Amino acid sequence: MSDLQSIETDARARIAAAATPADVEALRVEFLGKQGSISGLLKTLGKMSPEERQSEGPKIQGLRADVQDALSERREALEAAELEARLAQETLDLTLPAPEAPKGSVHPVSQVMDELAEIFADLGFSVATGPEIEDDWHNFTALNMAETHPARAMHDTFYFPEKPVDHALDQGERTGRTLLRTHTSPVQIRAMVERGAPLRIIAPGRTYRSDSDATHTPMFHQVEGLVVDEGIHLGHLKWTLETFLKAFFERDDIVLRLRPSYFPFTEPSVEVDVGYATEGGRRVVGGDGDAPGHAWMELLGSGMVNRRVLEFAGVDPDRYSGFAFGCGIDRLAMLKYGMNDLRAFFDGDARWLSHYGFTPQEQPTLSAGVGAAR
Ligand code: DAH
Repeated sequence: MSDLQSIETDARARIAAAATPADVEALRVEFLGKQGSISGLLKTLGKMSPEERQSEGPKIQGLRADVQDALSERREALEAAELEARLAQETLDLTLPAPEAPKGSVHPVSQVMDELAEIFADLGFSVATGPEIEDDWHNFTALNMAETHPARAMHDTFYFPEKPVDHALDQGERTGRTLLRTHTSPVQIRAMVERGAPLRIIAPGRTYRSDSDATHTPMFHQVEGLVVDEGIHLGHLKWTLETFLKAFFERDDIVLRLRPSYFPFTEPSVEVDVGYATEGGRRVVGGDGDAPGHAWMELLGSGMVNRRVLEFAGVDPDRYSGFAFGCGIDRLAMLKYGMNDLRAFFDGDARWLSHYGFTPQEQPTLSAGVGAAR
């Protein structure tokens, strides 16, 4: 066997034994690189006589071409095998159950707001909104709250610095200091100023007070109701609240007790209590609060809109009268769905939400019963 033949046999054996494309590359360098053994053989041609070169040249060139082909073949085979292996490993089993996608849920406060809108829409009310960054005039003055009213104190209300902050400015005309609205009642004023009478609105939304314990959070939710028309009286108020609460709690035995009270923006003013029983440590709304095993719970404030408030808002108090009410939404949600700590509403604990939250499919409808199915 000539030298060249044994070199080729040896090279082929080693190429066949290469296990990875990297091994093939190492062999290419060893044989054909600048310092490679076959490249070395080619260099010897220069020192040969012309006759020798004529006979040896083609053999060495042939050897180089053969080794080159063997290397490429082996590299392709190894790469194909690698791809095969990867594809085999990445096979998807389409019969496996899909992992459950994380689902969002509707916060109980949002759920109750939807329920309110649904119930009051049926009574001819539309939903009105106003800014959470309010001015002193809408939040207090136009609601007939005197300069000295305790709610105006710094320790009750979150005020902004004297100079209104920029983002407060683009929310319409403002007078006085800006603050985080302490109730939804300023929406009454805005609605009357913008739309005049007659009017039927509810205004659900966020409200803020400097207060924090198990039953008070600095941010909470209220819904305001306002009806202004000719001939509106206290009977309309009572009927509306009764109808609303029966639909909301999905019970016919809702009993209300109206107690005389005082709010600067209503005259007369009434506080509304609802009868309830305690069942298994939980308050269940329904029944006469004076009946055995029952008690009264304060639910909301209301009354006939004060003449001065109508005047402030540009409504003629000699032609129109109205009633208004304001109620905590968080309290409504707690009562209806049996939660006991208000702070949990705003902790953002996903476990609490998955326990009390609602799936987006559970939209309230009057035909299906307005409450979420549970
Ligand atoms: N704004 C009152 C509050 O925040 C609630 C309220 C009471 C609203 C009587 C009313 C009302 O519209 O007539 O406590």
